[in-house]
Amino acid sequence: MGKMLIAGNWKMNGLRGDGLPLATGVAKRAAAGLPTGVEVLVCPPFTLLQGVGEALAGAPVALGAQDCHRETAGAYTGDISAPMLSDLGCSYAIVGHSERRAYHGESDADVRAKAVAVLAGGLTPIVCIGESEAEREAGQALAVIGRQLAGGVPDDVPLDRLVVAYEPIWAIGTGRTATPADVAEVHGEMRRLLVARFGEGARAVRLLYGGSVKPANARELLATRDVDGALVGGASLNTDDFWGIVESCP
Ligand code: PGA
Repeated sequence: MGKMLIAGNWKMNGLRGDGLPLATGVAKRAAAGLPTGVEVLVCPPFTLLQGVGEALAGAPVALGAQDCHRETAGAYTGDISAPMLSDLGCSYAIVGHSERRAYHGESDADVRAKAVAVLAGGLTPIVCIGESEAEREAGQALAVIGRQLAGGVPDDVPLDRLVVAYEPIWAIGTGRTATPADVAEVHGEMRRLLVARFGEGARAVRLLYGGSVKPANARELLATRDVDGALVGGASLNTDDFWGIVESCP
């Protein structure tokens, strides 16, 4: 079993004036005592990657991006490629977040191509999947998860460099979390499908839960079977809250 991963997704938040102190705060906490068996990652907006990377220098905190283009370079105005992220010290990139699927029309095929590019650039992809509320109510949650997992995860992937985040859309930014029983069911299904596709090596794939994770609910969620960490949005914008989640790892 690899380390648990607590990843902060800052989304489109942070100017230098508040983002850099936030990174410095996380770096100080990590330098003062990172719990054993836990890896910490922050994913600021592209504009802060360089500054946050400098603020984290020497601290045991990894740097990641929130998206990545499928090509390495070229005529793609406004886009950012894996070599660019690597150049800034990123070791992770989130791909297929539900907000990108919803607002940028990203399909499972797009997500897979991005994950391939992230891997080719030497970074680790965090592939996000999750059902909508309507899909859950229709009893389709596991079917949606299976489809997104099959479509979004590349075939040729080093399993110890794959992270999958289960983020039910209805739990993102809403204050509602999936129950530990629901999380256990979905994570168990993700593990089963990954092992069926890739073999026993897929037990090394880290499966994160995301959606309104806070210090108050983190301990229970992180203790759930087949949960290997958390993808944290809102609570990652406050050092104390984010560190409370880091310290909730079992
Ligand atoms: P949230 O976001 O923690 O604010 O619900 C999680 C995410 O979207 O990654």
